[in-house]
Amino acid sequence: MTAASLFRRSGGFEIVQMTAADCAEAAALHGTGFSRAWTDGEIGALLAQEPVFGFMARRPGKRARPGGFVLARLVEGEAEILTIAVRPKHRQSGIGWRLMGAVLRHLRSEGAQRLFLEVDEGNDAALALYRKIGFSKVAERAAYYNDGGGAKSAALVMRLDLG
Ligand SMILES: CC(C)(COP(=O)(O)OP(=O)(O)OC[C@H]1O[C@@H](n2cnc3c(N)ncnc32)[C@H](O)[C@@H]1OP(=O)(O)O)[C@@H](O)C(=O)NCCC(=O)NCCS
Repeated sequence: MTAASLFRRSGGFEIVQMTAADCAEAAALHGTGFSRAWTDGEIGALLAQEPVFGFMARRPGKRARPGGFVLARLVEGEAEILTIAVRPKHRQSGIGWRLMGAVLRHLRSEGAQRLFLEVDEGNDAALALYRKIGFSKVAERAAYYNDGGGAKSAALVMRLDLG
């Protein structure tokens, strides 16, 4: 798929670097993807840390709400996805892929060696995205997530080598 066709497929969204001004919108977006939404203060506190960076999907020139965002951290060559969320109505249009692509480009430009993340074993959409990128499972934390109703599921720790 060419960059232009992927841009069209994902609704004309551009992937731009996140700034402190984006935290409130990112928090609202986070709440569409997770049962415990992060507040704008929590996202702002993360983004203020020097090793943390993020990207947001925005439509150029429009004040419309962003389509998704990703936050990651890079420390001494090892990076971690802190969170990624795409607005439900824009899912499966390539935004998650493009957000992860922006993270990978940034990490490679910084000379990072490995990228880790944690994902709920039952999160089929996220697992499919990560496997398509090339992540593989390296560990499992049993009963790590709790759905609030008492059901527990494992966290899969996944790794992508960037070298
Ligand atoms: C996981 C998430 C970020 C994926 O974002 P997205 O923009 O929908 O993903 P994309 O459209 O870029 O999909 C890229 C690839 O991932 C896979 N994929 C994404 N969603 C999928 C789904 N629901 N079912 C199967 N495969 C899926 C496909 O392989 C897809 O490639 P294809 O379209 O060429 O087949 C999104 O579903 C989301 O925000 N979920 C809620 C929050 C969350 O779970 N975050 C991850 C926590 S670890």
